[in-house]
Amino acid sequence: MQQAAAAVPEYLNETYWWAYVHPKAVDFFERQWLVNLILWGNFAKLRDSALRELGEELPGRSLQVACVYGDFTPRLSERVIRGEGTLDVVDVLPIQLSNLGRKLGDHAPVNLVNRDASDLGFAADTYDRVILFFLLHEMPLDVRRRTLAEAVRVLKPGQELVIVDYHRPVGWHPLKPVMTFILRSFEPFAMDLWNHQVEEWLPEGARVDRKETFWGGLYQKLVIRK
Ligand SMILES: C[S@@+](CC[C@H](N)C(=O)[O-])C[C@H]1O[C@@H](n2cnc3c(N)ncnc32)[C@H](O)[C@@H]1O
Repeated sequence: MQQAAAAVPEYLNETYWWAYVHPKAVDFFERQWLVNLILWGNFAKLRDSALRELGEELPGRSLQVACVYGDFTPRLSERVIRGEGTLDVVDVLPIQLSNLGRKLGDHAPVNLVNRDASDLGFAADTYDRVILFFLLHEMPLDVRRRTLAEAVRVLKPGQELVIVDYHRPVGWHPLKPVMTFILRSFEPFAMDLWNHQVEEWLPEGARVDRKETFWGGLYQKLVIRK
């Protein structure tokens, strides 16, 4: 039986229609140089740091929660191919999944799944690794908590969830005023990542194993172990 299309959450339609929902958004943002510019030239560094954390060869089952503009998933898929594993990518917007499908080509071992991150519907303890790349800062608090709970629930015990996202920059960071303006104006939930630690939203049974910050603290990578 075919699963019903996931309902698009209100916050996506209201806050991020211009970035992900509108067809012109995909045409506009799906440019490697632009996603790199949005991250002030740090896209490749953050992408490669997350991929290194996951491993050179990825056997078994990998899960990426939410699509990402640029070549993050094609690069991840290369590692999955080397490890003879499979990759599931979940997104609540079909338009984002189709866009990713075009970037991957026909033979990638990748399943594109239309689900809400806060209600994955997969069996518990099934994935060997889970990745959230710049997703949490876009979510209201209750959705963020449920998304983390779901990511941990579907992860096998002892395995890792890798998170890359915004983080509060150091006080002297030259871009702090401009980033405060940008995030407050266009990404209303993002300041939570400046004002709180991700640990605060983790479910029981998960703990931060490693944390690294980048570029004056504006970005972070967390490795969470179940
Ligand atoms: C990973 S985030 C942002 C990534 C990064 N800023 C970029 O350059 O693409 C964007 C994706 O998250 C998806 N998304 C947002 N909320 C979601 C939810 N509750 N469930 C599944 N996908 C969600 C959006 O549809 C979009 O494809």
